[in-house]
Amino acid sequence: MNIPAWPYAKTIAHRGAGKLAPENTLAAIRLGVAHGYRAAEIDVKLSGDGTLLLMHDDTTNRCSDGRGRVAAKTWHQLALLDAGSWHSKDYAGEPIPTYWRVAKFCIASGVTLNTEIKPCIGRERETGAAVALETQALFTDPAHAALKPLLSSFSTEALIAARDAAPEFDRAHLFDSPLPADWLARCKTVGAIAMDANWRTLTQDIVNVAHANGLRVACYTCNDPDSAEKLWGWGVDTIITDAVSLIPFRA
Ligand code: G3P
Ligand code: MG
Repeated sequence: MNIPAWPYAKTIAHRGAGKLAPENTLAAIRLGVAHGYRAAEIDVKLSGDGTLLLMHDDTTNRCSDGRGRVAAKTWHQLALLDAGSWHSKDYAGEPIPTYWRVAKFCIASGVTLNTEIKPCIGRERETGAAVALETQALFTDPAHAALKPLLSSFSTEALIAARDAAPEFDRAHLFDSPLPADWLARCKTVGAIAMDANWRTLTQDIVNVAHANGLRVACYTCNDPDSAEKLWGWGVDTIITDAVSLIPFRA
Protein backbone atom coordinates (compact mmCIF):
# COMPACT_ATOMS: atom_id res chain seq x y z
CA MET A 1 0.00 0.00 0.00
CA ASN A 2 1.23 3.51 -0.80
CA ILE A 3 2.47 5.53 2.11
CA PRO A 4 1.12 9.13 2.15
CA ALA A 5 3.33 12.19 1.79
CA TRP A 6 4.51 13.42 5.19
CA PRO A 7 5.58 17.07 5.02
CA TYR A 8 6.09 17.24 8.81
CA ALA A 9 9.30 17.51 10.78
CA LYS A 10 10.91 14.50 12.44
CA THR A 11 10.76 16.39 15.74
CA ILE A 12 7.90 18.52 17.08
CA ALA A 13 8.08 20.61 20.26
CA HIS A 14 5.41 19.38 22.71
CA ARG A 15 3.03 22.11 23.99
CA GLY A 16 5.48 24.68 22.57
CA ALA A 17 8.72 24.10 24.41
CA GLY A 18 7.29 21.52 26.74
CA LYS A 19 8.48 22.11 30.25
CA LEU A 20 11.08 24.86 29.78
CA ALA A 21 8.41 27.54 29.52
CA PRO A 22 4.70 27.58 30.46
CA GLU A 23 3.06 25.04 28.17
CA ASN A 24 0.71 26.16 25.41
CA THR A 25 1.77 29.82 25.46
CA LEU A 26 3.41 31.98 22.83
CA ALA A 27 6.44 32.22 25.12
CA ALA A 28 6.81 28.42 24.93
CA ILE A 29 6.61 28.41 21.14
CA ARG A 30 9.13 31.26 20.95
CA LEU A 31 11.49 29.30 23.18
CA GLY A 32 11.15 26.30 20.89
CA VAL A 33 12.04 28.56 17.96
CA ALA A 34 15.07 29.85 19.91
CA HIS A 35 16.21 26.23 20.19
CA GLY A 36 15.89 25.82 16.43
CA TYR A 37 12.47 24.13 16.40
CA ARG A 38 10.25 24.86 13.42
CA ALA A 39 7.34 22.63 14.47
CA ALA A 40 5.14 22.86 17.57
CA GLU A 41 2.34 20.75 19.01
CA ILE A 42 -0.42 22.67 20.82
CA ASP A 43 -3.64 21.72 22.64
CA VAL A 44 -6.69 23.66 21.46
CA LYS A 45 -10.17 23.90 22.98
CA LEU A 46 -13.20 26.20 23.05
CA SER A 47 -14.05 28.83 25.63
CA GLY A 48 -17.64 28.88 26.86
CA ASP A 49 -18.48 31.51 24.23
CA GLY A 50 -16.77 29.87 21.28
CA THR A 51 -13.20 31.20 21.09
CA LEU A 52 -10.46 28.68 20.34
CA LEU A 53 -7.60 28.92 22.82
CA LEU A 54 -4.60 26.95 24.00
CA MET A 55 -5.03 24.88 27.16
CA HIS A 56 -4.37 21.24 27.90
CA ASP A 57 -6.71 20.60 30.82
CA ASP A 58 -10.50 21.03 31.00
CA THR A 59 -9.93 23.46 33.87
CA THR A 60 -7.68 26.49 34.28
CA ASN A 61 -6.48 25.26 37.71
CA ARG A 62 -3.06 23.81 36.84
CA CYS A 63 -1.80 26.25 34.21
CA SER A 64 -3.11 29.64 35.31
CA ASP A 65 -4.11 31.65 38.36
CA GLY A 66 -7.77 30.96 37.56
CA ARG A 67 -10.07 28.29 38.93
CA GLY A 68 -12.82 26.35 37.20
CA ARG A 69 -13.81 24.89 33.89
CA VAL A 70 -12.69 26.48 30.63
CA ALA A 71 -16.10 25.70 29.12
CA ALA A 72 -17.78 27.72 31.89
CA LYS A 73 -15.78 30.90 31.15
CA THR A 74 -16.00 33.51 28.43
CA TRP A 75 -12.94 34.35 26.38
CA HIS A 76 -12.81 37.73 28.10
CA GLN A 77 -12.54 36.02 31.50
CA LEU A 78 -9.85 33.66 30.24
CA ALA A 79 -7.86 36.45 28.60
CA LEU A 80 -7.44 38.15 31.99
CA LEU A 81 -5.70 35.15 33.57
CA ASP A 82 -1.96 34.80 34.24
CA ALA A 83 -0.81 31.61 32.52
CA GLY A 84 2.89 32.08 33.32
CA SER A 85 3.39 32.55 37.08
CA TRP A 86 2.52 28.90 37.87
CA HIS A 87 5.63 27.95 35.88
CA SER A 88 8.16 30.55 37.11
CA LYS A 89 8.59 34.24 37.88
CA ASP A 90 10.25 34.84 34.51
CA TYR A 91 6.92 34.18 32.82
CA ALA A 92 4.63 36.10 35.16
CA GLY A 93 1.76 37.69 33.27
CA GLU A 94 2.05 35.47 30.19
CA PRO A 95 -1.48 35.26 28.78
CA ILE A 96 -3.49 32.30 27.53
CA PRO A 97 -3.28 32.75 23.75
CA THR A 98 -5.98 32.25 21.15
CA TYR A 99 -5.39 29.67 18.45
CA TRP A 100 -5.66 32.50 15.94
CA ARG A 101 -2.81 34.49 17.49
CA VAL A 102 -0.54 31.48 17.78
CA ALA A 103 -1.18 30.41 14.21
CA LYS A 104 -0.41 33.95 12.98
CA PHE A 105 2.88 33.89 14.89
CA CYS A 106 3.73 30.48 13.44
CA ILE A 107 2.94 31.57 9.90
CA ALA A 108 5.18 34.62 10.33
CA SER A 109 7.98 32.53 11.87
CA GLY A 110 7.89 29.53 9.53
CA VAL A 111 6.70 27.15 12.25
CA THR A 112 4.42 24.24 11.32
CA LEU A 113 1.72 23.44 13.84
CA ASN A 114 0.49 20.08 14.98
CA THR A 115 -2.87 21.26 16.30
CA GLU A 116 -4.24 18.77 18.80
CA ILE A 117 -8.00 19.11 19.10
CA LYS A 118 -8.49 18.81 22.86
CA PRO A 119 -12.24 19.07 23.44
CA CYS A 120 -13.73 19.54 26.86
CA ILE A 121 -15.93 16.55 27.65
CA GLY A 122 -19.15 16.71 25.65
CA ARG A 123 -17.84 19.26 23.15
CA GLU A 124 -16.08 16.84 20.79
CA ARG A 125 -17.94 17.56 17.55
CA GLU A 126 -18.21 21.29 18.15
CA THR A 127 -14.50 21.61 18.90
CA GLY A 128 -13.39 19.42 15.99
CA ALA A 129 -15.43 21.45 13.52
CA ALA A 130 -14.37 24.79 15.02
CA VAL A 131 -10.65 23.92 14.85
CA ALA A 132 -10.96 22.73 11.26
CA LEU A 133 -12.88 25.82 10.11
CA GLU A 134 -10.56 28.26 11.87
CA THR A 135 -7.54 26.46 10.43
CA GLN A 136 -9.13 26.81 7.00
CA ALA A 137 -9.61 30.56 7.54
CA LEU A 138 -6.00 30.94 8.70
CA PHE A 139 -4.45 29.05 5.81
CA THR A 140 -6.34 30.39 2.79
CA ASP A 141 -3.22 32.05 1.32
CA PRO A 142 -1.51 29.57 -1.05
CA ALA A 143 1.83 31.09 0.03
CA HIS A 144 1.32 29.39 3.40
CA ALA A 145 0.47 25.96 2.00
CA ALA A 146 3.80 24.52 3.15
CA LEU A 147 2.90 25.37 6.76
CA LYS A 148 -0.52 23.70 6.82
CA PRO A 149 -1.12 22.23 10.28
CA LEU A 150 -1.50 18.57 11.02
CA LEU A 151 -4.72 18.09 13.00
CA SER A 152 -4.75 15.38 15.65
CA SER A 153 -6.96 14.19 18.48
CA PHE A 154 -7.62 11.33 20.87
CA SER A 155 -11.30 11.83 20.05
CA THR A 156 -12.57 9.90 17.04
CA GLU A 157 -15.70 12.05 17.11
CA ALA A 158 -13.72 15.31 16.99
CA LEU A 159 -11.65 14.03 14.07
CA ILE A 160 -14.77 13.03 12.13
CA ALA A 161 -16.17 16.53 12.65
CA ALA A 162 -12.84 18.06 11.55
CA ARG A 163 -12.80 15.87 8.44
CA ASP A 164 -16.35 16.83 7.55
CA ALA A 165 -15.69 20.57 8.05
CA ALA A 166 -12.31 20.81 6.29
CA PRO A 167 -11.19 17.55 4.70
CA GLU A 168 -8.11 19.15 3.12
CA PHE A 169 -6.08 19.05 6.35
CA ASP A 170 -4.10 15.96 7.26
CA ARG A 171 -5.28 14.15 10.36
CA ALA A 172 -3.53 11.91 12.88
CA HIS A 173 -5.41 9.75 15.37
CA LEU A 174 -3.88 9.89 18.85
CA PHE A 175 -3.96 6.83 21.09
CA ASP A 176 -3.36 6.38 24.78
CA SER A 177 -1.46 3.59 26.41
CA PRO A 178 -2.22 0.71 26.04
CA LEU A 179 -2.81 0.92 22.32
CA PRO A 180 -6.46 -0.12 21.66
CA ALA A 181 -7.02 -3.23 19.55
CA ASP A 182 -9.03 -1.24 16.98
CA TRP A 183 -6.41 1.48 16.34
CA LEU A 184 -6.12 0.70 12.65
CA ALA A 185 -9.90 0.76 12.12
CA ARG A 186 -10.22 4.07 13.97
CA CYS A 187 -7.51 5.64 11.80
CA LYS A 188 -9.40 4.51 8.72
CA THR A 189 -12.75 5.78 10.07
CA VAL A 190 -11.43 9.35 10.36
CA GLY A 191 -9.31 9.21 7.20
CA ALA A 192 -6.12 9.72 9.19
CA ILE A 193 -2.77 9.61 7.42
CA ALA A 194 -1.00 8.80 10.68
CA MET A 195 -1.36 7.04 14.00
CA ASP A 196 0.12 8.98 16.91
CA ALA A 197 0.88 6.81 19.94
CA ASN A 198 2.53 6.98 23.33
CA TRP A 199 6.14 6.19 22.37
CA ARG A 200 6.41 3.49 25.06
CA THR A 201 3.65 1.45 23.40
CA LEU A 202 5.39 1.34 20.02
CA THR A 203 7.30 -1.66 18.69
CA GLN A 204 8.99 -2.35 15.39
CA ASP A 205 6.02 -4.59 14.52
CA ILE A 206 3.45 -1.85 15.13
CA VAL A 207 5.44 0.59 12.99
CA ASN A 208 5.60 -2.02 10.22
CA VAL A 209 1.85 -2.73 10.42
CA ALA A 210 1.06 1.00 10.27
CA HIS A 211 3.31 1.56 7.26
CA ALA A 212 1.99 -1.57 5.51
CA ASN A 213 -1.52 -0.13 5.96
CA GLY A 214 -0.60 3.24 4.46
CA LEU A 215 -0.22 5.10 7.74
CA ARG A 216 2.62 7.26 9.00
CA VAL A 217 3.68 6.92 12.64
CA ALA A 218 4.11 9.75 15.13
CA CYS A 219 4.62 9.41 18.86
CA TYR A 220 4.62 11.43 22.06
CA THR A 221 6.33 12.39 24.37
CA CYS A 222 9.86 11.07 23.97
CA ASN A 223 12.42 13.09 25.90
CA ASP A 224 15.38 10.74 25.82
CA PRO A 225 17.80 11.12 22.86
CA ASP A 226 18.77 7.41 22.83
CA SER A 227 15.13 6.32 22.76
CA ALA A 228 14.47 8.83 19.97
CA GLU A 229 17.27 7.24 17.92
CA LYS A 230 15.78 3.79 18.51
CA LEU A 231 12.34 4.99 17.35
CA TRP A 232 13.77 6.57 14.21
CA GLY A 233 15.63 3.30 13.61
CA TRP A 234 12.25 1.53 13.57
CA GLY A 235 11.04 3.98 10.93
CA VAL A 236 8.94 6.23 13.19
CA ASP A 237 8.19 9.35 11.15
CA THR A 238 7.88 11.99 13.89
CA ILE A 239 8.69 12.30 17.58
CA ILE A 240 6.95 14.87 19.77
CA THR A 241 9.25 15.97 22.56
CA ASP A 242 9.58 18.29 25.55
CA ALA A 243 13.36 18.03 25.32
CA VAL A 244 14.04 20.82 22.83
CA SER A 245 17.41 21.47 24.47
CA LEU A 246 18.50 17.79 24.31
CA ILE A 247 17.05 16.53 21.03
CA PRO A 248 18.03 18.87 18.16
CA PHE A 249 15.34 19.83 15.69
CA ARG A 250 15.17 17.59 12.62
CA ALA A 251 13.25 18.83 9.58
O1 G3P B 1 -0.32 15.41 20.71
C1 G3P B 1 0.54 14.60 21.42
C2 G3P B 1 0.43 14.76 22.91
O2 G3P B 1 0.36 16.11 23.22
C3 G3P B 1 -0.74 14.03 23.47
O3 G3P B 1 -0.79 14.06 24.86
O4 G3P B 1 -1.79 14.84 26.95
O5 G3P B 1 0.28 15.88 26.11
O6 G3P B 1 -1.87 16.32 24.98
P1 G3P B 1 -1.06 15.35 25.76
MG1 MG C 1 -1.22 17.53 23.29
